[in-house]
Amino acid sequence: MNTKVSENIYWVGSVDYNVRDFHGYRTERGSTYNAYLILDKKNVLVDTVKAPFASELISNIEKHISTDKIDYVICNHAEPDHSGSLPVVMAKCKNAKIICDAKCKEILGLYYDISEWNFEIVKTGDSISTGAKTVSFIETPMVHWPESMFTYVPEDKLLFSMDAFGQHYASSLRFDYENTLQTIMDEAKTYYANIVMLYGRQILKTLDVAKELDIQIIAPSHGIIWTKHIPEIIAAYADWAVCKPNKKVLIMYSTMWKSTEKMAVAVRDGANELGVDVRFYNIKDIHKTVLADEILDAASIAIGSATLNQGVMPEMASVLTYIKGLKPQNKSVICFGSYGWAPGTKELTSYVEAMKLEILQPAITCKYCPTAEVLEKCREAGRQLAQKALEA
Ligand code: FEO
Repeated sequence: MNTKVSENIYWVGSVDYNVRDFHGYRTERGSTYNAYLILDKKNVLVDTVKAPFASELISNIEKHISTDKIDYVICNHAEPDHSGSLPVVMAKCKNAKIICDAKCKEILGLYYDISEWNFEIVKTGDSISTGAKTVSFIETPMVHWPESMFTYVPEDKLLFSMDAFGQHYASSLRFDYENTLQTIMDEAKTYYANIVMLYGRQILKTLDVAKELDIQIIAPSHGIIWTKHIPEIIAAYADWAVCKPNKKVLIMYSTMWKSTEKMAVAVRDGANELGVDVRFYNIKDIHKTVLADEILDAASIAIGSATLNQGVMPEMASVLTYIKGLKPQNKSVICFGSYGWAPGTKELTSYVEAMKLEILQPAITCKYCPTAEVLEKCREAGRQLAQKALEA
């Protein structure tokens, strides 16, 4: 594996090929927990890895240097996928100070016994000299947690971007140019949709910060390191930060006795008449990770649910709770669904209202089974959603 990131800077993280769940996000291609080693007069470890991989991290460090020669351990983010090995690392790196911002120290103190750790607290604009290199710090609150921080090495034009620009992607090939661009961009998008979508405003601020820096390498905390395709990932983030819609209609539904499914098919048929990209999912068979990914760049969405106990189907409630938390923007929505005596579409619509998305018309309902008239209303809704997509 080529682990040399820049002159005297090495990747020392771990590749997790087998993880399939990341707090609810289905990680079909595994993940990596990236940590980096800067070798200079002062030696620096940038971030650690998830706790079960601590010994692998130590072994990777020791390929270069004895752990007691590490002077600084930077913690850019306290979430345990990056800080989980800190107790092991700080015990091994007996001469190291831990560098982080004030909020990060507070959070680390809630996770771990930090009483023996020697902290140096930094804020935006602070830097340390390691000898030939400078390591500077930029706080990036809410990308992904309140204590999150970037670390930048101007001599190498290298940005350690922590969760930003990451992908849950396991590969022994560390750099973008060694992997298939479509694959890593797809994984970066899925990651953005499921982890970062709700922080669009903070991402725009972060992109402004990045514009001020001379960057030739972006080394995130997950996935591959960007060197050749930095313009592509920066441009994609600018689009994703505002949930920029493509000419795409998403139809997602949950059915009980196939009535809502018949309505969904009619919506799909109507949308297809206008020649846009139509995605069609019975959510029973689709993980919410995929649906979040589809929503990020959809222009318009039809959401259908049969009624159960006067509300939406539980699997639809689960999906909508997840999506609502991600705060998608710039989408137009039509709700639909069947019922027997008390329409669950009221609850369906309330989810969309809570998301503050545009609702194009009142929910389309059918009592028990859709009539020809209801199905035509659904087809017309599909045309309307497709027209919105064409205008995107
Ligand atoms: Fe990869 Fe927010 O932790």
